[in-house]
Amino acid sequence: MKLKQHTIKRLKGNYGTWSLITGATSGIGKELALKLGEAGFNLVITGRRKRLLDALKEHLTETYNIDVVTIAGDLSLEHDVIHLIEETEHLNLGIVILNAGFGTSGKFINSNLDDEMNMLNLNCKALLILTHHFVNAFKSQSKKGAIVFLSSMVAFQGVPNAANYAATKAYVQSLGEALSIELKSEGIDVLCAAPGPVETGFSARADMKMSKALKPKDIAIPIINAIGKKSTVLPGFLTKFLVYNLRMTPRWGKIRIMGKVMQGFTKHQRS
Ligand SMILES: NC(=O)c1ccc[n+]([C@@H]2O[C@H](COP(=O)([O-])OP(=O)(O)OC[C@H]3O[C@@H](n4cnc5c(N)ncnc54)[C@H](OP(=O)(O)O)[C@@H]3O)[C@@H](O)[C@H]2O)c1
Repeated sequence: MKLKQHTIKRLKGNYGTWSLITGATSGIGKELALKLGEAGFNLVITGRRKRLLDALKEHLTETYNIDVVTIAGDLSLEHDVIHLIEETEHLNLGIVILNAGFGTSGKFINSNLDDEMNMLNLNCKALLILTHHFVNAFKSQSKKGAIVFLSSMVAFQGVPNAANYAATKAYVQSLGEALSIELKSEGIDVLCAAPGPVETGFSARADMKMSKALKPKDIAIPIINAIGKKSTVLPGFLTKFLVYNLRMTPRWGKIRIMGKVMQGFTKHQRS
């Protein structure tokens, strides 16, 4: 599936032609880069794995004849976040997709505190610093700006067996929802994309065995289509089905149901 011409026209008209995607070396971020590249956006792509960034840059520039800037770095480290800001200051970025993130799973009592802190630094602290920088940068531009957060289905309630991961995404979702209202009058659109399980590098790093996962290509176009139109998108049929089915359930019930789901995703850890 491709982005429709009227969507490309709307996005370029509103936000210009430069877009940043953090965490573009695999999964959802890579698919978003491929779709925006195909639509003719120039891209800044980031990730820790420089070799994968260079390979993606080569593919994007050769296939779509666009400009691509790669910035390798570990965004859980504040100096690499600052480096990313400095390296993009001269570019007229219009769409900023803060996608880089990871999850952990299992019993919190057995978790490794360094890993949990690292996740907090990447999923929340880096996202906060970059958002603060880019909304101020957008304010001084004549065109609009858009920020996209990768939230998650786990953001809407506590999730036993992925407690800290779900809490990081609750932070992301809550920040995004509030900023989408607060920043509208500044000409800045904020979107939270909250997918359910997606087949990416995520599950291996989080040590989850997820069933009924979507593919990144199922969710990239719905996410891009929603920029400037919604404050939250539940991309893909399965995500909508799961979230809508839980909507009428009281919060305590949702926590128990999501706990059962996560128990299934982490069953192998107990066998
Ligand atoms: N897959 C799912 O089921 C799912 C569901 C809901 C939400 N999400 C969210 O979607 C986002 C993308 O995840 P994904 O599923 O596409 O997983 P993925 O395939 O593992 O991709 C994660 C991306 O983030 C980058 N990244 C990870 N740690 C980083 C660090 N310390 N510094 C800089 N970049 C880093 C990775 O690049 P390097 O490894 O090269 O650094 C990679 O490009 C995450 O925020 C995740 O929480 C995923």
